[in-house]
Amino acid sequence: MKKQDVLIIGSGVAGMTVAINLAEHRPDLSITVLNKTRQGESNTSWAQGGVASVWNHDVDNFQKHIEDTLDAGDGLCDEEIVEMVVKEGPQRIEEMIEWGTRFDREADGDYDLGREGGHSENRILHYKDKTGWEIQRVILEKGGDYPNITVVEEAFAIELITQHHLGRVITSATPDIECYGVYVMEKENGAFIEPYLAKVTILATGGAGQVYRSTTNPVVATGDGIAMMFRAQGKIQDMEFVQFHPTALYTPEGNPGSAMPDFLISEAVRGYGAILKTLDGEEFMHKYDPRKSLAPRDIVARAIDREMKIHGWDYVYLDCRHLDPEGFKTHFPTILEKCLSVGIDPLTQYIPVTPACHYICGGIMVDKNGQSSIRQLYACGEVTCTGLHGANRLASNSLLEGMVFGHRIARDVSHRIDQWSCNEQVPEWDARGTTEPEEMVLITQSIKELKEIMSSYVGIVRSNVRLNRALNRLHTLYKETEGLYQSTTLSPQLAELRNLITNGYLITKLASYRKESRGLHYTTDYPDKLPFKDHMYL
Ligand code: FAD
Ligand code: SIN
Repeated sequence: MKKQDVLIIGSGVAGMTVAINLAEHRPDLSITVLNKTRQGESNTSWAQGGVASVWNHDVDNFQKHIEDTLDAGDGLCDEEIVEMVVKEGPQRIEEMIEWGTRFDREADGDYDLGREGGHSENRILHYKDKTGWEIQRVILEKGGDYPNITVVEEAFAIELITQHHLGRVITSATPDIECYGVYVMEKENGAFIEPYLAKVTILATGGAGQVYRSTTNPVVATGDGIAMMFRAQGKIQDMEFVQFHPTALYTPEGNPGSAMPDFLISEAVRGYGAILKTLDGEEFMHKYDPRKSLAPRDIVARAIDREMKIHGWDYVYLDCRHLDPEGFKTHFPTILEKCLSVGIDPLTQYIPVTPACHYICGGIMVDKNGQSSIRQLYACGEVTCTGLHGANRLASNSLLEGMVFGHRIARDVSHRIDQWSCNEQVPEWDARGTTEPEEMVLITQSIKELKEIMSSYVGIVRSNVRLNRALNRLHTLYKETEGLYQSTTLSPQLAELRNLITNGYLITKLASYRKESRGLHYTTDYPDKLPFKDHMYL
């Protein structure tokens, strides 16, 4: 049994922002940050485009950023939260800069502000095309400056500890669920499962892109936090809004079974002037939106999906050939290198691109200080549903959300933590009656099946028939997997499979509740948007 004051699960932008701010204000608190693999393996590390924030007040202002966010969110954002994040954003970015983050500058010394889809002004601060890598580097280094922060690698959080583990019956209607920490599988310790107790627990476990066959997300993005929260009877909202990025690099051999995600061709490339074209070399985005290639992501991804389906294509083209070659090399060195490595020179050839699952807009329901529906449990970053993104996240608003909420959670926790204590009645993990798994193939095959189900029936375009079929198939997978879970010793693979199935179920179930098309949720049975705003939750 391991005791600390604060337990943070995840060391991406969200988790480390909480840790650093809390350590700064409360050096008396012991703070443990868990990572299920190695530090730096996160969605944060892969972020390319940058962080959106109002910077050049000569042409931009908060109201414009607010309106762009609300417009992308298609009527489902929480306006108070949008205003809060947009207005607090610049201070949080200033702090990142103070901690050592480099953002590109122009020759005159001003920040070089990029443009992405749905933004009416250039307001994306970036470090070349690897902004996330730079931010992850800085927050891990900065975290190392505080003796009261301990980062533990290869420590896989598998279950939230609540009164359920003390023998009380808990349902989603129980009003006073409390969190006492998590059970953690310590991979270094022979997958031994140990209770980590804390006065306050913070879920910062990131997204769930691995639910789909094609995704820009790394393998760690298996929706663990969302699944743990759902099993603990906490509230989950808006999961039907799954963002597909319009432009992942298409390669003929695909990415089956690969540990590497689909490579992203940043929206910043379109912001720099690249144009989407059909395989005949014709522009097509004007048919779908006056903002053409720079329309919000839901519109562009759906347009590409439609063109691909009409013509039977596996991809469309991104044309960069007219762009300034030197500028392209300076702004997008990683993208250039990746394209060249697969035999495509973007300066002379079209880049084949196709949509891929990128971001889960829904998640754990939290208030403006990141407090979840379970006491002593906060959540931060992509794992949450804060109300910022509504039905479709505006590009580059995610890193910003992690920074703003990370700071707010640290402040709230530092004020409230002294009223709470660790609950030492928590029992050890009970693995009696389980045996070593012999059939790994059952787990790997089920993961493949899950991805097929979600990609075939719960993708960019949905219908009642497809969603029902997905729910039936998911139910079978769920029963088989729970059987394995009851009878075999838990492994990281089995834990991830359970979590992925839960995320698949939440996406599909909430999609089946929504009887309209809005933002990222498009169904042929209800193609219109309803005139009122409603949230789906479980
Ligand atoms: P993450 O950064 O994913 O961190 C989660 C951490 O939790 C990881 O360290 C993981 O290992 C750990 N973890 C997960 N489960 C467990 C568990 N069970 N036990 C212990 N540890 C666990 N957003 C922008 O705003 N701008 C961009 O330009 C941008 N570009 C992107 C490009 C790509 C290719 C991708 C994939 C995403 C991009 N995004 C971008 C989205 C953005 O990067 C993420 O939404 C954001 O970084 C999420 O941060 P996070 O801290 O919530 O989660
Ligand atoms: C990108 O660079 O296109 C990704 C930006 C984002 O997801 O916010």
